[in-house]
Amino acid sequence: MARAKIALIGGGQIGGVLAQLCALRELGDVVLFDIVEGLPQGKCLDIAEASPVDGFDVCLKGTNDYKDIEGANVVIVTAGLPRKPGMSRDDLIEVNSKIMTSVAEGIKKYAPQSFVIIISNPLDAMVTLCQKVTGFPYERVIGQAGVLDSARFKAFIAWELGVSVKDVVAMTLGGHGDDMVPLVRYASVQGIPVMELLEQKYGSAAKAAEVMEAMVKRTRGAGGEVVALLKTGSAFYSPASSAIAMAESILKDQKRVLPSCVYLNGEFGVKGYFVGVPTVLGEKGVERILQFKLDATEQAMMDKSVNAVKELVSSMK
Ligand code: APR
Repeated sequence: MARAKIALIGGGQIGGVLAQLCALRELGDVVLFDIVEGLPQGKCLDIAEASPVDGFDVCLKGTNDYKDIEGANVVIVTAGLPRKPGMSRDDLIEVNSKIMTSVAEGIKKYAPQSFVIIISNPLDAMVTLCQKVTGFPYERVIGQAGVLDSARFKAFIAWELGVSVKDVVAMTLGGHGDDMVPLVRYASVQGIPVMELLEQKYGSAAKAAEVMEAMVKRTRGAGGEVVALLKTGSAFYSPASSAIAMAESILKDQKRVLPSCVYLNGEFGVKGYFVGVPTVLGEKGVERILQFKLDATEQAMMDKSVNAVKELVSSMK
């Protein structure tokens, strides 16, 4: 049986890690595309030369020609500029819209049957634009934000409570911006509410709330925290791992429940926008959106986040 084919558009920091993860996990053959000549070819050669050491059997091809993505099952897009210190994701909209338009045209022409996962920022706007330009069905165009935002939230909880990250369940909803919605009420350690554990640790509900508030704040600003440290770009290991989890769920029909930026048609009170919500990802792409009741505070935070997404999208020329 033919191996799956994964096209990665953008061969920069995230693109390189994506290619390596695809290879290490033998997810499929990889085509790494970039406009810079030599960059994707060099990265692919470098990764391929590690194959006898790591023991993976996949082909990796670096290219500057969209034709090479023909037949891709999944396309992951990281083309575009990353943030520099002091910038918000939204500051990238003008330059990255132009890049995304050309990328989407390439995907539409050469990989019309593919599932597309966008990582480029500002995420919610880039997903909207990619779907518009490709005209692909909504279930085949999604954005990676929630898996990473949730992972950051989970990591902070695990470190605070001194438990394995594997045993923390937590999720963020909404846009991929400062108004994202970390869901405190549903955060648990193997089903035990995190707030209860924090209360035990600190001996008071007030202190537990304070500690949780700090973790929520850190989650919202986690991308910026990395940017401030790196100074030359934004996070790249964790966004790559997160998108790979989504691609793997689609390619292997795992039907994992992963928060993804998807088109909403009334779910969570949102209509006509791409926003982060829990989805079931399988062989058909977005197979289902898992809806549940938000309480008044959560809904108010969600509305605020969605309003920020609406503003961002309307600012696109
Ligand atoms: N087509 C394809 N690739 C392009 C194009 C284009 N039109 N324009 C730029 N690129 C490439 C660049 O040449 C570069 O190699 O996109 C790559 C981006 O890589 P980096 O600058 O290293 O950025 P990275 O850290 O990978 O982040 C990419 O993801 O998380 C977001 O905010 C981040 O928008 C940024 C994107």
